[in-house]
Parts: sequence; structure tokens; C-alpha cells
Amino acid sequence: MIFDRVKSLDAILATAEKKSLHRSLGAFQLTMLGIGAIIGTGIFVLTAAAAQKAGPGMMVSFMVAGFVCAVAALCYSELASMVPVSGSAYTYTYAVMGELLAWMVGWALVLEYAVAASAVCVGWSGYVMGLIKSTTGFSLPVFLSSGPAWGLDGFMPTVDFAHGIINLPAIIVAAAVTWLLVIGTSESAKVNAVLVAVKIIALTAFIVISLPIIKGENFTPFMPTGLMGHDGLGVIGAAASIFFAYVGFDAVSTAAEETKNPQRNVPIGLIGSLAICTIFYLLVAAGVIGTVGAQPVRDLAGNVLSPDGLDFANRCAALTAAGEAPIVCSKEALAETLRRIDFGLVGDLVGLAASIALPSVILMMIYGQTRIFFVMARDGLLPEGLADVHPKYKTPWKMTIFTGICVAVAGAFFPVGQLADISNSGTLFAFFMVAIAVMMLRRTDPGRFRPFRTPLVWVIAPVAAIGCLGLYLNLPFVAKMVLPVWGAIGLLIYFFYSRGHSHVGRGLIEVHEEDADVPPTALPPI
Ligand code: ALA
Repeated sequence: MIFDRVKSLDAILATAEKKSLHRSLGAFQLTMLGIGAIIGTGIFVLTAAAAQKAGPGMMVSFMVAGFVCAVAALCYSELASMVPVSGSAYTYTYAVMGELLAWMVGWALVLEYAVAASAVCVGWSGYVMGLIKSTTGFSLPVFLSSGPAWGLDGFMPTVDFAHGIINLPAIIVAAAVTWLLVIGTSESAKVNAVLVAVKIIALTAFIVISLPIIKGENFTPFMPTGLMGHDGLGVIGAAASIFFAYVGFDAVSTAAEETKNPQRNVPIGLIGSLAICTIFYLLVAAGVIGTVGAQPVRDLAGNVLSPDGLDFANRCAALTAAGEAPIVCSKEALAETLRRIDFGLVGDLVGLAASIALPSVILMMIYGQTRIFFVMARDGLLPEGLADVHPKYKTPWKMTIFTGICVAVAGAFFPVGQLADISNSGTLFAFFMVAIAVMMLRRTDPGRFRPFRTPLVWVIAPVAAIGCLGLYLNLPFVAKMVLPVWGAIGLLIYFFYSRGHSHVGRGLIEVHEEDADVPPTALPPI
């Protein structure tokens, strides 16, 4: 029962072949595509949360997370190049492990894409508010610019004027991006290239200014919370959170079918973009630690506080009131670091760069989400009406608006770190399944043509699976629990709705010629 209803790989490939995209991307473009999708809230915002969890040891966390991503990416690429249709991990799992597990993966990908989009909305909000305050002196009241604070266990929100009620800027950016997607905006390679440049210039400026003035003593103690602390603290806990900073590299795998010589260029694009981002992240982290220090905030008894908890929010508020807030309390860590070392103008420009560039990450995430919903609806697992295409804009507008509303609501009421952790739990599950699927397919279908083959698959795939599992287990308790609860809800929907409506279950295997890959979007791109 678990493995039944496998969607035939041949049927999927027939769909893809009809489409046959022009192979035009080279290693350089792929690397740019990867960097464009990867750099975002993770480095600009979550550096503060990572420092709170691991102190200067967050540099090791960046390396651990980058390594797990690299091995997962190599597995992802084999399936992406072999089954080059949309829906990514969902489609791969459908072909290899059957409908039930595919549904679970698709359901988990909602966490990856939609929740990640919410996290980036909240990260954007922090930067825009900081920029406005720094340049005009105006600041929106906390209760309108921040969602509620959550208790240490994350279950009970504290909704009040001091801690926050609703994050209006996050709602506004989610609505604006949703509107762009409804009217058919897709990101062009040119816009991506400009935004990649903006992000790289901002990070480079940060590094060039901060590194010459770092102080060695700021790096000790190096691992104040140890390797693995309670509830997601410690170097590995920080790695599990900072994993978010690397999410998005699947954009490269998904472009495999548009790539010239994928066997050579896909791994270069993947590993290249991950390696470049890792180097940037390490240098940026060193700049933050070495200039303004990155020791975690503790309660009065000396215990390190969880960065999304109520106690942490209260402690930071008290320290801010006293003018002593450390950088771990900041919602715009990089801009704030520069302001503190008397580079206020560059700090504002870095804030501006983040404000301009982060919406494109939101756009890619919401687009990715609608693409997965679209494929799932087309397979009959979600109501097919949701995949309706707008008569004028030619976009799956109902699904896009539905996704946008979910993203806005999550962004309005949750802190960025918690959203990122929840997103990571779904992503890690999806990557774990992909690593397993690669190995299964090598056994069950060894003769099939693989444009890209994972090197040393019997080493890389198990390491990827174990790495994903290890990071998942080091997420904070709440983020870890969201996955099974979300999964249970998904199972109920599957058994009460999707199983009965499934096209595969009803024996309908159709080949889509026009809409094989993406929900149709109208051009011109932005
Ligand atoms: N890696 C992306 C970011 O950090 C999701 O915003």
C-alpha cells in the first residue's frame, strides 16, 4: 500500500520530451542562477539567530550546513536531470516510491516554499523598517511591525503592544509579490543578474569594511554553547537553522534540462554556487563576530536563551532600553553591524540592497510553491479547480492568491527564525527522500539514461540522508514537531480526498503537451 500507485517514469518523461527546452545554460549562468536563489534572509537576518545559538562557532555551523546542502544537491541533480519536469522532489518520489510518499513530499514542500517565503517577508520587514528608521527617524510602532512573541516552548504567543501583534510590512510585501505573480511576472535572467550583483556588492562591501578591523579576542570563547545544546542551541543546532541560508540551490537542479552538457555543468553550477555562498557567509560571519562580537544573550542566571523565545525578546528589549543590545538582538544584523562601526551610510546602503533583493527570493519561493500545487492538482491530488488559469493573465491565479494569503498570514504572526526552522524541517525531509530515491532508482532502474550521475552515489547519498536527518534532529523542538503534525494533517487529506481523486488511481495517465512544466505565465518578465 505504501509503495503502490507509482507513476510511470516513461509517462513522466513522455511529458517532458514533448516540451524539449532549448539547452542554453552554461556553468556560469547556472552558478549565477544558484547564487540568485540562495542569498537572502539567511545571511542578512538569521546571522543574528545563529550567533545566539552558537556564538562565534556559527562559522562552523555555516560549513556544516553548506556541506549537507552540497551532498544533497548532488543527489537532487541526478533526479532533476533524469526526470526533468516540474514538481521537483514530489515528481521524483511519485516515479520512484509511489503516490502516498509523493504526496507526503509534496505536502512537506509546502513547508519549504510557502513558509520560507513567509520567513523572507519577515526578514525584509526588519530591513525596511531599519532603513526607514535610520534614514528618516520614523518607525512604525512595534505592534504593527512585528508579530507576537512566542513563549520559550513556542506554543503560546504573547500578543501585546510591547511584543508585537501583526507584521504589516511582511503582509504588504507578500501581497505585492503575489500580485506580480498573478499578472504574470516571471523573473528574467537580466533582472536576476542585476539582483545577484546587488547582493554580492552589498556582501563584499560588508566584508571589505569589517574584516580589516576584526579583533581576535572577539572569537573567544569560540563555542559558548558547545556542539549540541538543548532545544536547538549549539553549533549543530545553529547549522540546522542556518541551513535556510542555502535553500534555493534546487533552482540549479531544476534548470538541468536547459543546460548544455549537464553532466559537467550541473555539478559545477551547484557546487560552484554553494561554494561561493559558503565563502561569502564565512567572511560575513567573521566580520560580524570580529567587529561587534557575537556572544549569546543570557538570562540573569547565566543560561543562553533561545532566540525565538519570549525570554529572549524581553531580555533584548531590556538591553535595548539600556542602550546595550548586542548584535544578536538585531533584526538587520549586517546593516546594524556597519552602523555600529561608524559606517552608517554603507549600513543604510546594505539595508537598501537587502530591501531591493529579498523580494525576488520571495517571488521565486511563491512561484515554486504554485508550481508544485499546480502539478499536484493536475495529478488530481488537490482540487483541479485550483489550477484554473486566468483568462487574461494566463496564470494559475486562484492558486497564487491562495498561496499568497497563506504566506502573508504566516509572515504576519510568526518570527523569522521560527519560520525558517519550520521551513527547514520540510526541506530536510524532502532532501532526505530524494537521497533515498536516488539509491532506489539506481537499483530498480539501473539502465535508464541519466544525463547527470551523482558521483560516488553509495557514499554521497547515504551521507546526504544522514546529514539531513542529523540537522532535522537538531532543530528546536517546535520546528521538529511541526513536520509530523503537518504530515498527519496531510495524511488525513490524502485518505479523505486525494486518494479517491488521484488520476493515477483512476487509471488516467495523461500527457500534457502544453503545460508540461510550469503553470503558464504571461510575459513580459520584470
Ligand atoms: N536561502 C534563502 C534565504 O536565505 C531562502 O533567504
